[in-house]
Amino acid sequence: MVTLLDGKLLSKKVQNEIADKIEKLKVKHNKVPGLAVVLVGNDPASMAYVGRKEKMAGNIGMYSRQIQLPETTSQVELLEIINKLNNDKEIHAILVQLPLPKHINTDKVLMTIDPEKDVDGFHPVNMGKLLSGLEPAAIPCTPLGVIKLLEDYNIELKGKNAVVIGRSNIVGKPVSILLLSRHATVTICHSRTQNIDKICQNADIIVVAIGKEKYLKKEWVKPGAVIIDVGINRSEETGKLVGDVDFDGVKDLCSFITPVPKGVGPMTIAMLLSNTLKLFEKTL
Ligand code: GUN
Repeated sequence: MVTLLDGKLLSKKVQNEIADKIEKLKVKHNKVPGLAVVLVGNDPASMAYVGRKEKMAGNIGMYSRQIQLPETTSQVELLEIINKLNNDKEIHAILVQLPLPKHINTDKVLMTIDPEKDVDGFHPVNMGKLLSGLEPAAIPCTPLGVIKLLEDYNIELKGKNAVVIGRSNIVGKPVSILLLSRHATVTICHSRTQNIDKICQNADIIVVAIGKEKYLKKEWVKPGAVIIDVGINRSEETGKLVGDVDFDGVKDLCSFITPVPKGVGPMTIAMLLSNTLKLFEKTL
């Protein structure tokens, strides 16, 4: 029997715990965590994500500020705004929604965020610490959410074969490091990987973050495998939100699987709020 990994439920639990902590810290210090979310342009998916992040932060008693900038914003203007946020005492966490417009150098932007306010953990200092086994100010939200979900369901990682499909800085690379640090044997696959079906057939755990509907097929999945679907795609057939996994095809084969929606997505937001609280606590 397959078990659904309920990210929505765990996310709610994490948010309740954070809300309680914020209430106590507010009484003690007369301050609350402040999150700034910066969005450049008006991509509908990014606008929806950013709106959700800001709303959730407000719901649990944080101060949240959304900075929406036009598509034509120059790199210099954006860097000035980030520098102001770096020096703003009310803001403890800064998130710049990706992807940015093509005329802006994403690396330069991420490197301008104060590493101690880098709620995504994307600054090279924080990424470097993660890779070195040192404690970064924050760990990227989606990878951290994946690990929390696996841990909450007591899924063993030590010695297991974990296959990560996708090598992005946002998900694939950091989730691979987190799995490795928990003693999994990790294989990273991507668009140029040969015999990906064979590699997956040997996996105890598969994390898919490739952005293609029904990419992971049942023929690739070993019976009893654990499937984590990070994808968020709009289905060409139904127009509904779907992941990267052929859910109906693999669901009777695996032991655990994340649904889309209500799987990894809510965990990303929970970890964003958890990281915001952590960065705030470090300033007290
Ligand atoms: N775009 C897609 N996922 C993310 C994320 O986790 N953080 C940011 N900043 N942008 C994203």
